[in-house]
Amino acid sequence: MNYKNYKKNPSETLETLFRWLAAQLRFSSCPFVEARLLLQLALGLDENSFFKNLGQPVRRGVWKKVLALLKKRKESWPMAYLAGKKEFWSLEFKVNRQVLIPRPETEILVEKALSLKLPERPQVLDVGTGCGNIAVALGREWPEARITACDLSLRALKIARENAARNKVKNIYFVKSNLLNYFIRRRKKFDLIVSNPPYISEEEWPMLDRSVRDFEPRKALVAGPTGLEIIKKLIMQAPRCLKRSAYLLIEVGSSQAEVVLELAGENWQEAEVLKDYAGFFRAVCLRRK
Ligand SMILES: C[S@@+](CC[C@H](N)C(=O)[O-])C[C@H]1O[C@@H](n2cnc3c(N)ncnc32)[C@H](O)[C@@H]1O
Repeated sequence: MNYKNYKKNPSETLETLFRWLAAQLRFSSCPFVEARLLLQLALGLDENSFFKNLGQPVRRGVWKKVLALLKKRKESWPMAYLAGKKEFWSLEFKVNRQVLIPRPETEILVEKALSLKLPERPQVLDVGTGCGNIAVALGREWPEARITACDLSLRALKIARENAARNKVKNIYFVKSNLLNYFIRRRKKFDLIVSNPPYISEEEWPMLDRSVRDFEPRKALVAGPTGLEIIKKLIMQAPRCLKRSAYLLIEVGSSQAEVVLELAGENWQEAEVLKDYAGFFRAVCLRRK
C-alpha cells in the first residue's frame, strides 16, 4: 500500500498503515516500535488507544502527517526530537534541538549519587544540566535535598525548568553559570557536584552518527581539540566549591577515565572509575580531601 492506493481506497485501517510504515522504517533497529510511536504522534494517541484503534479507518489528514514525519525520520531526525520528549530514570523530559537528548548510560550518575553517604539534606550541584534530567531525577529521589542546576545556555535552563515542573520537582534552583564561576564568586560549597559535561573532541565530531551531528547541539557535546578541556577545568575548579570529604561525580568518554584520574592529581582522598551497563568506563567519582 502507498498514499496513492490509499486515495483510491480510503477505508484502509490503522493496522495497514502501521505495517506499511514499519516496512518504510526497515533501516531502523526497531521499525515496529518507531512506526507505532510516529503513528501515536500523528494521531495523538497513547499506546493503549493505539492498539485499540488498529481496526479503525485512517483519515487522509493523518496520512499526510505520517508522510511528513517519515520524511524527517529518513533524514535522520532523532525520534526524541520528533516526539519532543525522552524518558530518563523512568521520568518524561521535554526535549528539543536546544538540548542534548538524555542517554540511558547517564543514569549511572544518578544511581551512584544515590548510593553516596551524604548529609540528610545534601546540597547538590548539577553542572551542564541540559534538559535537567540528572537534577530532576535526583530531586524526585531526594525531596529533602537542595539542588542547584546550572548551564551556560539560557535556552537549556528554560527547558530544564519546564521539566522540573512537569515532574513536580520543587527543590531545584536554576542558575546560568560558566562551569563553577558563579559559585566560586559567591563562595558556595556543595556536598556533591555531579556533571555530564561535553567531552567529545573536535576530531571525533565529524565521525559521529548523522542523527547526532546534524541535530544535537554541538556545544553540548564538543569540549575542544582534545575533548578533555571542560572536564579538566571542572576538576581544577571543583575543590573550591566542595565541602571537606564531598564528592565530584563526572561522566567521561569511554577512553578518558585513566587520563581523567591523572588530571585529578592530589586534591582527592578517593577516586573510583564506574562502568556503564554496557561495560564501558563511563564515570569518575572523586572525593575531596
Ligand atoms: C553533554 S550535555 C549534558 C546535558 C544533560 N546533563 C544530560 O546528562 O543529558 C552538556 C551540557 O553542558 C552545557 N555546557 C557546555 N559548556 C558549559 C559550560 N562551560 N558551563 C556550563 N554548562 C556548559 C551544555 O549547554 C549542555 O547542556
